[in-house]
Amino acid sequence: MIPPMTRSISLKQLLPPAVFTLWLLLAGLALVRTQASVTAQNDDNCVACHRRQKDNAGQVVTIFQTSTHGRAGIGCDRCHGGDPAQAEKAKAHAGHFIAKPDTAATLEMCGRCHRQPLEFFKGSRHVAARPNAARLDCVECHGVHAIGTASESFRWTQFCAGCHGLEYLPALPRPFQDMLALADDLSDGLHRLDRKGGAKPELIQRRKEIRHMISELVHQTDTKGGVERIPRILELGETLRQQIASVEKR
Ligand code: HEC
Ligand code: HEC
Ligand code: HEC
Ligand code: HEC
Ligand code: HEC
Repeated sequence: MIPPMTRSISLKQLLPPAVFTLWLLLAGLALVRTQASVTAQNDDNCVACHRRQKDNAGQVVTIFQTSTHGRAGIGCDRCHGGDPAQAEKAKAHAGHFIAKPDTAATLEMCGRCHRQPLEFFKGSRHVAARPNAARLDCVECHGVHAIGTASESFRWTQFCAGCHGLEYLPALPRPFQDMLALADDLSDGLHRLDRKGGAKPELIQRRKEIRHMISELVHQTDTKGGVERIPRILELGETLRQQIASVEKR
């Protein structure tokens, strides 16, 4: 962070000449790299052609762009395979192209980049779910193209209660429910800040740490670990909730 006092002084005044020249050089390089990545995106025929489609195949692009994966610059082909350099559909949808993965293919797809969630999930009670139970894998819980996008209608508490607390499954223990409600609250709070011009990086980082702690318990369906760890997660979450509220009041 540049302290407020120095903001009006130019970088050239602040830096010794040799350092300033180096800075100019690096800034120039950064510009070239930005342009290169824009060109690379134009070469992405998956996006270019799908954007032109009127139905579902086109809507996916709009939805995907604001998602965490879209913002991180992950291309369609990183999940679906195919060849983004080809402008014709048949040639682009070729090679190791996966249109709609089943559960095994989904785990492989997501697990390529998310090793720990995959390992935890494989050892969890959710895998052992009875044979005729609804599909329960990464995509069933997270969705796909909208991952990380604000959604007022999605609630972890309600989603999990769609199985836990119905028919043969008892409701999740109270602390688990409180933890899920916390996850929903924090997501809402940060998305509100995002709409008002962006949340501070340290708040986003804190949310990531809490999300990770929650995910470890959920991916492993670790009820025992929950008893020990949830109180601490709720405490950290409450602090972050208050920090978000105080930014909102300003
Ligand atoms: C020239 C146009 C074009 C290009 C290039 C293209 N697609 Fe498609 N894609 C389509 C259309 C149109 C559909 C709608 C279904 C159909 O007609 O096959 C589609 C459908 C899909 C589907 C759904 C398939 C299904 O069975 O429901 C996926 C996934 C997909 N595309 C991914 C990709 C990826 C990944 C790339 C780049 C590697 C890509 N597409 C490149 C036009 C294109
Ligand atoms: C993070 C992995 C991932 C990325 C990145 C991704 N997809 Fe998908 N996509 C999937 C999965 C998984 C499914 C199957 C969803 C299901 O079975 O409900 C799917 C389904 C689809 C479908 C068919 C179903 C539908 O929703 O209409 C289309 C079309 C599609 N993707 C296009 C794209 C395009 C175009 C991009 C890039 C803009 C893209 N996908 C990026 C994982 C991904
Ligand atoms: C090509 C690598 C790659 C693939 C494949 C991939 N992801 Fe990701 N995923 C990422 C990256 C990078 C991030 C952002 C990490 C960060 O910001 O800390 C991310 C973030 C996430 C997040 C956290 C999002 C948030 O902001 O709340 C979830 C959940 C997620 N991915 C689920 C999935 C699922 C489900 C699949 C399979 C359909 C998948 N990912 C496939 C790379 C990938
Ligand atoms: C039973 C539902 C469920 C399943 C199945 C599931 N997740 Fe998650 N996942 C969650 C919850 C809940 C969180 C925490 C969300 C929050 O704090 O907002 C999470 C968080 C994450 C995160 C972000 C936190 C981190 O650990 O970095 C990633 C990435 C992720 N999941 C990937 C996956 C992948 C990959 C799979 C499949 C192997 C998967 N998840 C299966 C519920 C699930
Ligand atoms: C499609 C139905 C379904 C959904 C949705 C679902 N679960 Fe489960 N869950 C199950 C089944 C089936 C079991 C295994 C029960 C058993 O082994 O007796 C299970 C087991 C668990 C366990 C272990 C319970 C124990 O007694 O040790 C935990 C914890 C858990 N789930 C948490 C969650 C959370 C958190 C969510 C939401 C993010 C969720 N589940 C969503 C079906 C579901």
